[in-house]
Amino acid sequence: MKVLVTGGAGFIGSHTVVALVKAGYTPIIIDNFENSDNSVLDGLAEILGAQPLCYEGDCRDGELLSMIFEAHPDLQGVIHFAANKAVGESVKDPLKYYDNNLGSTITLLKAMVHYGVPNLAFSSSCTVYGQPEVLPVTESSPVQAAQSPYGNTKQICEEILQDAVRSGLNLRVLSLRYFNPIGAHESAIIGELPIGPPQNLVPFITQTAVGLREQLSIFGHDYNTPDGTCIRDYIHVVDLADAHVAAIKVLEAKQDVDQYYDFVNIGTGTGSTVLQVVNTFEAVSGVKVNYQLVERRPGDVEQVYAQVDKATNLLGWKTKLTLEDALRDAWRWEQRLAENRADEADEEEDGFMD
Ligand code: UD1
Repeated sequence: MKVLVTGGAGFIGSHTVVALVKAGYTPIIIDNFENSDNSVLDGLAEILGAQPLCYEGDCRDGELLSMIFEAHPDLQGVIHFAANKAVGESVKDPLKYYDNNLGSTITLLKAMVHYGVPNLAFSSSCTVYGQPEVLPVTESSPVQAAQSPYGNTKQICEEILQDAVRSGLNLRVLSLRYFNPIGAHESAIIGELPIGPPQNLVPFITQTAVGLREQLSIFGHDYNTPDGTCIRDYIHVVDLADAHVAAIKVLEAKQDVDQYYDFVNIGTGTGSTVLQVVNTFEAVSGVKVNYQLVERRPGDVEQVYAQVDKATNLLGWKTKLTLEDALRDAWRWEQRLAENRADEADEEEDGFMD
C-alpha cells in the first residue's frame, strides 16, 4: 500500500513517513530540500531500518510527478505537505508563496486525476479561523480573512480542492486543519530543523535553553488570558502524524464514493499560554529559560484552541501524548543537535591538527 508524501523530508512529513511505515504502508517521498535536509533520510533509515524511496524535486514539476505516478501505478493516496510556511517571509515575498503553495497543489491534483489516484490528505492550518469568536473552535466556525499570504494560500488551496471535488473530478479529499505542531520523535533521531532563527515558540525555547540564543522574547503579556500571554493548542507531531494515517484510512474506506471533500480540526482540545509552555519546559528539562516580556507580535491572535469531536468521530483518532511529552522530546532533539555540532567541531579540529 503505497502513499506519496510530498514534503516527506520536512518536520511533519518525516514523522508521518514513520507513522505510515508503522501502519503497514510504503511511503514514497518527494521533496525539493529547500527547507529540509538530506540528513533526515538517514534519520528515517535509522528509525525504520531502511531508507524510504525519495525523489528529489519540486511538486510544480509536472513531468517529475508523471514519472513518479507511472513508476508507481499502485499508489493508494497522497499526503500533501510540500509548501512554504513562514508567516513573516510570506508577507515579504507573497509571490513565492502563491507560486509554490498553489502551484504545487494544482500540479499535484492534475496528476492525481490523470493517473486515477483519488485519495488526498491536505495539510491545512487553524490559521483559516483567524481569531474565532467562540472557543474552542469547531469546524462550523467561519473562515476569516487571512492575516498573511501564507494563511491565504491555505484558504485558497482548500477552496481549490473543494471546487475540484464539486466539479465532478474523481477526488476524495480531507483537509487537516492543524493547530500548533511541536515535539520530535521520541528517539531524538528526527525533529524540527529551523533554518536561521526560529519563528515558532518551541524551537526558540529549546535553542535558548541549549545556549544558541540569548533570550526568548514573549510577545505580548496584556492579552485577555489568565496570565496575559497568548493561548494556543500545542499538538505533539507524532500524534499529528498518526492523524494523517487515520485520514488515509478513512479515504480508502470511501472507495465507493466518487467525490468527497471534508475538513477537520487536528489539535488536542486544550489551550496553553506561552508562559505555561515555558514553565512546563523548565519542569521537564530542569533548565531555566531566559526570557523577557515584550510587545505583542503583529498578526498574532489572542487565543485559539480546537474542539476535536469531529476528528474523534470521523477519523477515530485522538491525541495520546501530552504537552510534557512534546516538550521533553523537543528538548532531547535539541540536545542531540548540540551533540552533533560538538562532534563536528571536534572532527574539524582533529582534521586541522593533522
Ligand atoms: C503560526 C501560524 C500558523 C502556522 C504556524 C507554523 C498564524 C496565525 N499562525 O502559528 O498558521 O501553521 O505558525 O509556522 O499565522 N511566541 C513568542 N515568542 C517567540 C515565538 C512565538 O512569544 O519567539 C508566541 C507567539 O506570540 C504565539 C505563540 O508563541 O502566541 C505561538 O507562536 P508560533 O509558534 O509562532 O505559532 P503561531 O503564530 O500560533
